[in-house]
Amino acid sequence: MIITTRKIEVYEINEIFEIDKKEFEPMNYPLFVLKQYYDLFSELFLVAENENKDILGYIIGGTNNSEGWILSLATKSEYRGHGIGTKLCKSLLNLINIDCILLTVHPDNSGAIHIYEKLGFKTSARKENYYGDHSPRNIMKLDNTHK
Ligand SMILES: CC(C)(COP(=O)(O)OP(=O)(O)OC[C@H]1O[C@@H](n2cnc3c(N)ncnc32)[C@H](O)[C@@H]1OP(=O)(O)O)[C@@H](O)C(=O)NCCC(=O)NCCS
Repeated sequence: MIITTRKIEVYEINEIFEIDKKEFEPMNYPLFVLKQYYDLFSELFLVAENENKDILGYIIGGTNNSEGWILSLATKSEYRGHGIGTKLCKSLLNLINIDCILLTVHPDNSGAIHIYEKLGFKTSARKENYYGDHSPRNIMKLDNTHK
């Protein structure tokens, strides 16, 4: 399978909504929030696709003046273990010209943590109620200087 990553097209946001919902419900992003991420950070909203142009996964990035964030990442369950999550992360990190990249991840999400650690992220804090729903999150941080 040849996997490529590229910027999302606006008409593909509904498909991302479905993937995000399947993976993260009830804390999935509403459709309008995905569209607004696209409005703000369309260069950092990427999809992975195969030769048939099927969408296999996505990543959403965002930035402010001093920080870049990985805001969401998912690979469709049937395509996992092919390096897609890693490829999406690397593609995004190459596009963010900010030294400090942050993300949150559930402490039990060993698969995602494995990817982030391989890319150089380190856990900088654990917050017990980061999103206000009483579920914990690790904050992970990458020094993106040497990308
Ligand atoms: C996390 C996720 C994006 C990984 O996607 P993927 O395309 O399977 O990732 P990769 O194929 O690039 O895997 C990279 C590495 O992680 C490992 N890995 C993947 N899932 C794993 C799991 N559940 N447990 C342990 N290791 C795992 C792979 O073996 C691989 O290791 P290696 O490179 O040392 O061989 C995917 O499992 C997913 O969508 N999960 C649900 C949504 C989610 O949790 N997103 C992250 C929120 S912070």
